[in-house]
Amino acid sequence: MSTIALILAAGLGKRMQSSLPKVLHPILGDPALLWVLRALPAEVAAAVVVVHHGRSQVEAALAGWAGAGLLPCPVTTVDQGEPLGTGHAAQQAAAELDRLGCERVVILCGDVPLIRPGTVARLARSGAVLLAMDLEDPAGYGRVVQRADGTLEAVVEHKDASEAVRRIRRVNGGAYGLPWAGLKRALGGLSNGNAQGEYYLTDAVVEVAGRQPVAVELCEPAEMIGMNSRADQALLQAHARDRINAGWMERGVTFLDPTGTLVGPRAELAQDVLLASGVSLGGAVALGPGTQVGPGCVLTDCSVGAGVLIRPYCVLDRSQVGPGCQLGPFAHLREGTLLESGVHLGNFVETKKATLRSGAKANHLSYLGDAEVGERSNIGAGLITCNYDGFHKHRTSIGKDVFVGSDCQLIAPVSVGDGAIIGAGSTITADVPPGALALTRAPLVIKEGAAERLRQKQKARRH
Ligand code: UD1
Ligand code: MG
Repeated sequence: MSTIALILAAGLGKRMQSSLPKVLHPILGDPALLWVLRALPAEVAAAVVVVHHGRSQVEAALAGWAGAGLLPCPVTTVDQGEPLGTGHAAQQAAAELDRLGCERVVILCGDVPLIRPGTVARLARSGAVLLAMDLEDPAGYGRVVQRADGTLEAVVEHKDASEAVRRIRRVNGGAYGLPWAGLKRALGGLSNGNAQGEYYLTDAVVEVAGRQPVAVELCEPAEMIGMNSRADQALLQAHARDRINAGWMERGVTFLDPTGTLVGPRAELAQDVLLASGVSLGGAVALGPGTQVGPGCVLTDCSVGAGVLIRPYCVLDRSQVGPGCQLGPFAHLREGTLLESGVHLGNFVETKKATLRSGAKANHLSYLGDAEVGERSNIGAGLITCNYDGFHKHRTSIGKDVFVGSDCQLIAPVSVGDGAIIGAGSTITADVPPGALALTRAPLVIKEGAAERLRQKQKARRH
């Protein structure tokens, strides 16, 4: 039985006031549509996304996610053309669903990101089902009318509903699991003779319900919040944050400020991780057991080993940090940084495409770009690897057990052999052999009493 997901995402999203299609707006770093796709259970063989407004942007995003291995199944798109309603969207996708050998269809909205995988699995497995929720304020939604046995009798859009029907608080969530043959037949007979002049998918679902029972299943209202405005986006983000943080707390993670800490949906946190206030973890961030992240740190697509101490206000991007490292405050690890175990990077140290082997230390004010630093080597304050000559990037290689004094520049390409010592204030323009001492020194000039003579001279000049 081939189950295919149909995801409606052709709407304009006018109220977002954005040049970005609304399904690409992020919730905790991941776009809404990616949340929906990642909620698909294993039995969904493929997904069809109905697009129109912002089509090329959505298709580019889908290709990127597929390339990064983020999608649970193959995804194709169908251009709806001018969107004429949810039923029209499904009609336009019919040929593609047939091509994929669809037998069951699970219909979701691309702008409803917090639907839980367990809920989608229920839609994928049950016979015929419409997802509903009970709302205090049901205004705007389609109302669900049930038969005595609880099965679906009708869905009446708010604009088409009588006063009596508008009092119903059970509303259509807009997600369904249905046999495709039955739905396809019903889609063929849709008309747009309603208050909005649209082809309603709900009319087709009700038509199916006339031929076979369609169950009405309830879900948590938060699962069905759609993103139509920036206010909705903020609300969704708050719900997602609370859900994710509560989940990690159950698994042994300490949050010093759970409402002020943003952990993305793809983070992996081990036991006894501690996150301080204002921490933000985006993309695929993995933190090992006992790792502590101080206030205001921002980590994106990083893996961090066990027992790492990240002091306040560090920024880590596409980097790997081994166990027992100590970073910051104010360290900046840029893409391609690899720290083996027990590395220390102190305040105002920036790294890019840099490998620091076990026990290496750079504690103050340095730039290490396109560089390798060997085991136990000590980088003094203010080292700069001069990796860019204005045209090309060049590499710096520092061996193990090297001592680099403060305020040095290494003009790449250059290498420093194992065990070498570089004197403070040196500018190194040639390779330093293992065990050598290298230093550059302009001769020091001392003139006894000259300071006072200089002051007098300046004074005389002013008068
Ligand atoms: C729909 C349901 C309503 C339900 C509500 C839940 C219908 C007729 N009504 O109403 O019963 O309570 O969702 O949120 O289905 N879309 C397209 N192409 C279109 C129109 C819409 O792809 O031509 C997409 C939108 O981008 C959106 C989704 O379908 O992702 C739902 O469309 P929307 O306009 O929000 O439907 P509602 O009128 O709110
Ligand atoms: Mg809507």
